Amino acid sequence: MAVDEQRLEQLMGTMVGYMTGGAVCFSVWLGDELGLYRAMAGSGPLSADDVASKSKCNPRLVREWLDGQAAGGLVHYDAAKDTYELSEEAAMALADDESPAFVARAMNAFGSMFIDMEKVRDAFRGDGALSWKDHHPCLFSGTEWFFRTGYRAMLATAWIPALDGVSEKLAQGANVADVGCGHGASVVVMAEAFPNSKIAGFDFHEASIATARKRAADAGVADRTSFEVTTAKGYPGTYDLVCFFDCLHDMGDPVGIARYALEHLEPDGTVMLVEPFALDGRAENMTENPMAALLYAASSSICTPNSLSQEVGLGLGAQAGEERLRQVFEEAGFGSFRRATETPLNMILEAKA
Ligand SMILES: C[S@@+](CC[C@H](N)C(=O)[O-])C[C@H]1O[C@@H](n2cnc3c(N)ncnc32)[C@H](O)[C@@H]1O
Repeated sequence: MAVDEQRLEQLMGTMVGYMTGGAVCFSVWLGDELGLYRAMAGSGPLSADDVASKSKCNPRLVREWLDGQAAGGLVHYDAAKDTYELSEEAAMALADDESPAFVARAMNAFGSMFIDMEKVRDAFRGDGALSWKDHHPCLFSGTEWFFRTGYRAMLATAWIPALDGVSEKLAQGANVADVGCGHGASVVVMAEAFPNSKIAGFDFHEASIATARKRAADAGVADRTSFEVTTAKGYPGTYDLVCFFDCLHDMGDPVGIARYALEHLEPDGTVMLVEPFALDGRAENMTENPMAALLYAASSSICTPNSLSQEVGLGLGAQAGEERLRQVFEEAGFGSFRRATETPLNMILEAKA
């Protein structure tokens, strides 16, 4: 078959973009780790030596890093003055971990994919199983910071208000279960927004639960939160709201887990299912969902292998889409299932008995 030179050139351009993205993700990760962005934020134009001395890093390496950041469009370089500046917008995304646009620390998650290459390779060549617990710890913090920004910006102000009557219940004082809570980012947001409610975080990963406890204590919400190491089919109690934040698709038995949640709902209780955004129909999702390439990459190396490592091993995948998720909840016995709201990254779904 003859090679189409133009198509080849286009493909090489795409590959250069991906290689640049991968390398710049690493530099962003490094910049966050070393405090380089924080050293620049709000300081106006700085020389490379200024950035190096403020961050206590090697000046030659900092200059090289800064030139890369400027080439990648993240930092502004003034050639006449030989200075570098972080804009207000870049500071939000890269320096301020409380901002509604902070993304820098999420790079830990991409780093973990490279670090765990051999384990993922073995899963592909074997039975497909790789437990969440067996990944490098970068995955756990990367996941926290990948999703935390959106939870802080939207969970209490837009997502919960989009559920039928849930905001009012939580304001008065309700019991909430956050299943698969990881480092507890969503637990802390709900506990801060609804001080009369009790939020219980559950996760089968002991180290994540230890971090979640620390996050809640640091945020001053330890009095209204609790955490327990348990599987999604093992937590005690009944709840007005059971939440799954970006985790149900990771689990081996989503139908059994949804059924367990139904059995642990108070009368008129609600399940809030937050899942990565996906369009129904794989072909459409691949071409029309701008997040699909990233999310399938994560799904094939992290989410689906974890599901295949657990009982049932359904392997739903992070791009299941609303209709497939509806089937899961119908099979589990729920009577109603609807999309409450969405963002480019997440679908917020409501299920009720
Ligand atoms: C993608 S992370 C999401 C964590 C957290 N909800 C967040 O949004 O940051 C998936 C979480 O599900 C947990 N998990 C996976 N399978 C589980 C199971 N069967 N029971 C309980 N937790 C599980 C993992 O330990 C991990 O913390």
